[in-house]
Amino acid sequence: MTFSKLMRSTALVFGVVGLTAALPAHALDIKLPQETSQLKASTLAGHQAASAWCVMCHSIDYINSQPPMPSAFWHAEVTKMVKVYGAPIPEDQVKLISEYLGKTYGTDQK
Ligand code: HEC
Repeated sequence: MTFSKLMRSTALVFGVVGLTAALPAHALDIKLPQETSQLKASTLAGHQAASAWCVMCHSIDYINSQPPMPSAFWHAEVTKMVKVYGAPIPEDQVKLISEYLGKTYGTDQK
């Protein structure tokens, strides 16, 4: 490629980038699919809490697909959602959810 050809294609690239930047930004309209999975039923208060808090960012399938684990595991898991991923779940709710998941999905005595 000659120098002048290189300069022309470089100018073209900058031209396109400039044009794109000048166009008005449009809000993206993203429709998420309906949730199809459900939490296991329970009379424990943590069921309500999990239904409220654990559907904000991802499918319930993330919970359903875990192997049976005790509430200590779930406490660590829910704490990770709070500390690492920024879930705004109060500590008392974290306890209730962990107990519910440990008993309903896990290995803890019901
Ligand atoms: C603030 C957003 C947010 C909330 C609220 C949230 N999670 Fe998550 N969760 C994530 C992210 C991000 C991942 C990781 C996704 C990935 O790796 O693809 C994840 C992954 C998971 C996983 C898969 C295993 C893992 O550790 O990556 C499980 C199980 C899980 N979440 C359980 C829960 C439970 C239970 C709740 C309710 C207490 C909850 N999540 C609430 C963001 C959230």
